[in-house]
Order: sequence, then structure tokens, then C-alpha cells
Amino acid sequence: MIASNSIANLATANSFTTQTSQKEKATPAPHDRCGWFQPSALRRANATAVNASAWRLVLLGAPGVGKGTQADLLNRRLETCHLSTGDLFRAASKQKDVEPSPAMRVALEYMRRGDLVPDSTVWEMVRERTECLRCSAGFVLDGFPRTLCQAESLKQLMESERIPLNAVVNYELPLADIVARLSGRRTCEKCKTVYHVTGNPPKVDGMCDRCQGNLFQREDDRPESITVRMATYERSTAPLIEFYKGLGLLVSVAAVGSPDEICARTIQALGARVKNESAGARPAF
Ligand code: AP5
Repeated sequence: MIASNSIANLATANSFTTQTSQKEKATPAPHDRCGWFQPSALRRANATAVNASAWRLVLLGAPGVGKGTQADLLNRRLETCHLSTGDLFRAASKQKDVEPSPAMRVALEYMRRGDLVPDSTVWEMVRERTECLRCSAGFVLDGFPRTLCQAESLKQLMESERIPLNAVVNYELPLADIVARLSGRRTCEKCKTVYHVTGNPPKVDGMCDRCQGNLFQREDDRPESITVRMATYERSTAPLIEFYKGLGLLVSVAAVGSPDEICARTIQALGARVKNESAGARPAF
């Protein structure tokens, strides 16, 4: 499954620097996120041994910069699994048949305001999904870690589980462009595909192209929540850029242009990193 897009191949394959083809666009992501969304009692371990050639990435960047959009595209290109902590909280908020735990109720209130959910709650959700991090397909982590405390916890977990992290991609974009992206975002309530009312509209207004689900506007995309989210990002998440730079894992990518252009730029930057590693730079851990 992973062979064609493995880390070793990425260093040499020129085709990875071109834009996403129409065929790839139409192909569904090879790995669903069932394990990530299931409650712990129902979840099955989906890997027994860590696959050294799979990609394991963290995406960083301000709210609305396009991390979810890129995670989706990278997923198809690298045949990884898209793991988003924000999606977990949104899924919990939409569960009709299950009463949220007191900790989850508090978490959802933080999210509505645009504040970060407390580290302890986030970490509990991630830690009980450790088998998703061990998945033989690898992963693209979107929205986690978001604080230095979360980053330290992830580092310790990955070291103790002997799971290598290949790179941390930091997407950069001017604030005005980010706000425009956020205010026009629409998300499918079923498959979570993300659209934009002008930049990436669905074929039929209000309906998902992939699964025909209804599109909705996120509660935290209201102007007052966006302001809080941006301030929280600067205070709590931006310091992670230096943290990962210090670990030699940071790859900065300009998030300007179309999603396909940004994805091609990301793949190119990752390919350059792999080449440096093969030429004797520090190992990816
Ligand atoms: P989360 O869901 O992670 O949200 P976020 O980080 O704020 O990021 P977004 O999903 O808003 O934006 P994005 O960068 O993914 O952009 P997208 O691709 O959608 O978290 C939500 C909340 O959950 C947090 O505020 C917090 O409360 C809580 N939470 C989650 N994780 C947590 C953690 N670890 N710790 C604590 N709390 C946590 O794109 C945005 C729009 O732009 C879309 O409409 C898209 O179509 C459009 N777009 C994308 N790319 C382009 C492009 N190139 N050109 C034009 N438009 C584009």
C-alpha cells in the first residue's frame, strides 16, 4: 500500500513535485479514520509493528491556514491517515445518543469560545488512540500538538513507543488571507470534507461532492471566536515553531496559491528533507 510513496522513494521520484493529478483527486483516501473516531471500548489495534517507511507528519499553522485541506491532499499522496483533534471534538459535540462526559462538556465550551481545550483532556484523547499513531500507514497529525506541554508529551510517547516523526510542516500565510479563508469555510457533516464558498465551492450549493452530506459553517468560525483563536495561536502554538526547529524537524511552507500548488510545494520540501537525510544530515526522530 505504501511502497509507491514511501519515504525512500520520495527522495528520488520527480513525479512527487508535480501537482495532484485528476486521477488522484477522484481517488478516495486509502485509509479511513474509523479507529480515530471510535470510543476506546470499540477500537481495535490496527498495527502490531511500526512500519519504518511510512510517513509521520505534524502540521502546524494558524487556524484557517489550510492544515485540514493539506492533510486531506497529503493523505492521498502519501497514503497516510489524517488524524485531527478538532474533528474529534466536533464529532463529540454532534453525538446525539451519548451524553458527553463532564470533561468533554467543558472541552466543548472552550472550543465554542475559540479557546484551547485543556491539555489534560486533549492528551487523554490522544493517548488512548496510541494505536492510531502506530498504524502501519503512518499519519498526518492536524491540530495536535498545540502547546509546548502537548508537544513534550507527544515526543515522550513517540520515543517510548519507538515511533519516528519525520517532519513538522509549518504553513505560513498573512493574517488577512487566513481570516478570508475561515469566514468562507463550509464543512461536510458526514465525511468532514472542507470547502470554501468562493475558493473551493461544492458543485451543488450546500451539498458535499463526495458523499452528498449537508455542508455547515463551524460555530467557531464566527468573527468573535476567530479573534480569540488567533490570539490563542500566537500565545500557545506559535512557540512550537522554535521547539520543532530545535529538534531539526521543522519544514516551513508558504500557504499561498491553490491547495494543489501548496501540496506540491509541501511534497517538494519533504523530498528535499529526505535527500538531506540520506546525504548524512540528522536522522528523522
Ligand atoms: P481545529 O479543528 O484543529 O481548528 P484550527 O486549527 O483552528 O484549524 P482550522 O480547522 O480552523 O483550519 P485549517 O488550518 O485546518 O484550515 P482548513 O483546511 O479548514 O480545532 C478547533 C478547536 O478545537 C480549537 O480551537 C480548540 O478549541 C480545539 N482543539 C483542537 N485540537 C486541540 C488541541 N490539540 N489542544 C487544544 N484544543 C484543541 O481551511 C480553511 C478554509 O480555507 C476552508 O474553507 C478551505 O476550503 C480554505 N482553503 C484552504 N486552502 C486554501 C487555499 N490554498 N486557497 C484558498 N482557500 C483555501
